[in-house]
Amino acid sequence: MSTYQNKFPVIAIDGTASSGKGTLAKKLAVFFGFDHLDSGMLYRIYAHEVLKKKIQEVDKIDINIELFNDKTLYESKNLRSELVSKTASKIAKNEFVRKQLINLQRHFADKPPSRKGSVIDGRDITSVIVPNAEVKFYIDASLEKRAKRRQIQLNLPEKEYEKVFYEMKTRDYNDKNRENCPLIKTKDSLYIDTSNISERMVLDIAIKEVKKKIDFI
Ligand code: C5P
Repeated sequence: MSTYQNKFPVIAIDGTASSGKGTLAKKLAVFFGFDHLDSGMLYRIYAHEVLKKKIQEVDKIDINIELFNDKTLYESKNLRSELVSKTASKIAKNEFVRKQLINLQRHFADKPPSRKGSVIDGRDITSVIVPNAEVKFYIDASLEKRAKRRQIQLNLPEKEYEKVFYEMKTRDYNDKNRENCPLIKTKDSLYIDTSNISERMVLDIAIKEVKKKIDFI
């Protein structure tokens, strides 16, 4: 087990793709005045670079990719495409890639711009990145609901639903079954199924949990 100890309070959120974890993370950050880090974005930016440089063997990457030199990339719709999603999930298996990103994430946890705390969402935040986080959540929803959300988010026609469904199923499988830092629900994470409840309800449940675990003066 890692001995890393976060210096500011962290709300750690793991979960499946399109489960609503990102939306929850953003809203919690606003509510508590914390800073938000979408760790999936780091893997997507990495994947984008891999695609741009036409690196074929993504399983064998051992180069230090220059991240974050292009701020406009963050807003780029490209980063949410299915191709980038798929590539991100592939490179996420790579130990070298994960090691590079661990420090970036912990640095954010220890130096949040607000100097109050952070909300970090991803796949291994509760288990590996910030194992001593003050509050932990595991967010999930049925595959059908998540694929539908994704299809709408990407503005794709109805006929694309099945393709999105199967790509998401494969990505879930890869994320949960890889050797390095798989997506798991830790014992101390609160499980929230967002299939049939509103975003507002998810937020209310989460706010209650955070208030139980962190003392706000
Ligand atoms: O969260 P999002 O869907 O944007 O993440 C894209 C991919 O990046 C995931 O499918 C996963 O393979 C990888 N990822 C990861 N660990 C994280 C965040 C994302 O492996 N902490």
